[in-house]
This record gives sequence, structure tokens and C-alpha cells, in this order.
Amino acid sequence: MAKKILMLLVIVFIAIQFFHPVKNISSAPTPNAIALHYEVPHDVQTILKVACNDCHTNNTRYPWYNKIQPTTWYLAKHVNDGKRHLNFDEFAGYTLKKQAHKIDEVVKEIKNDGMPLTSYNLIHSDARLTVDQKNVLIKWAENLSKEIKTKNTTALAK
Ligand code: HEC
Repeated sequence: MAKKILMLLVIVFIAIQFFHPVKNISSAPTPNAIALHYEVPHDVQTILKVACNDCHTNNTRYPWYNKIQPTTWYLAKHVNDGKRHLNFDEFAGYTLKKQAHKIDEVVKEIKNDGMPLTSYNLIHSDARLTVDQKNVLIKWAENLSKEIKTKNTTALAK
């Protein structure tokens, strides 16, 4: 019996290797990318790149184990979920109200150690943010939030 179950598992494992969700890799231009519309200093860009962009832009740097199912599905789910909540490549396409809200959420997530996801940090040691890196991100996001809110008030007053 145990042998049969094992055989079945092996077959299922092999079978699922043939299924691959579409990768989050786009060569399309991203005119709404945040850095094209707002100031994103170099140090902030660097942090976003190593710690956030894999799940919050249109381009993920895939690790080798993404080739092995069911990891592919697991990673795809995080990327799709992350992008749906916040996509830095589509940022300027959001309403000003939504932009400000998302940036406020960035501050909250960083302060609460909610992002990057724990499972991501486990493997990407360079994504574990130091206190300094967190402060850089928080300060940038707080200023950006103010800038967007001012822009929104001006827009509404017109
Ligand atoms: C491994 C993928 C992954 C990485 C890396 C990651 N996130 Fe996320 N992020 C998610 C997912 C999935 C969600 C939605 C579910 C949740 O909130 O847990 C999310 C949600 C968020 C939200 C909430 C948006 C909302 O709708 O309120 C913010 C803000 C956020 N992430 C910011 C960041 C920042 C900043 C970084 C880098 C420091 C980061 N994330 C790194 C996957 C990721």
C-alpha cells in the first residue's frame, strides 16, 4: 500500500512539472513607473530592487527553483497577489488618493515588519532590511505621501 501511494505521488510530481503559469517578465515599457513620476533616490531604488520589486513590479527575478513545481505556483501566487495590491510599475496610473493610500501602507508595512514576506526573507538574506534601510524607506515614503496629498488637494481645489 505504502509503495503504491509513493508511486502515485511520484507520478503526480512528474505530471505537475508540465504546468507552468505565465512568468511575470514584461519587456513592455512602463510609463506609469513610480520613478518616472516621483523622486526615488538611488538608495531607495536599491532597497526596492532587492526587497520589493520581485512581487511589486512587472518584472520578477526568478530563482532556479522556480522551475520545480509546486514552487512555481507558490511563487506565482505571491507575485500576483503582491502586484494586485501594489504595482510600482503601474503606480502613476492609480488615482492620487490611491497612490497616497498605498504609500501610507508602505510606511505601515515597514514599521510592522510586514514586508517583505517572511518566506521571501528566509531565502533572500539581502532582502532582510536593516534598521537604516527601514528608516530610509520610511522617510522617503512619508515625504512622498505628503507630496501626493498636496497634489491631490490642489487638484481637487481646481
Ligand atoms: C515575496 C513577495 C513579496 C515581496 C518581496 C514584498 N511583498 Fe509586499 N505584498 C506581497 C503580497 C502577497 C501582498 C498582499 C497580501 C499581504 O498583504 O500579505 C503584499 C502587500 C503589500 C502592501 C499592502 C498594499 C495594500 O493594498 O494595502 C504593501 C504596502 C507592500 N506589500 C509593500 C512592500 C514593500 C515596501 C516591500 C519591500 C520592502 C514588499 N512589499 C515586498 C508580496 C510581497
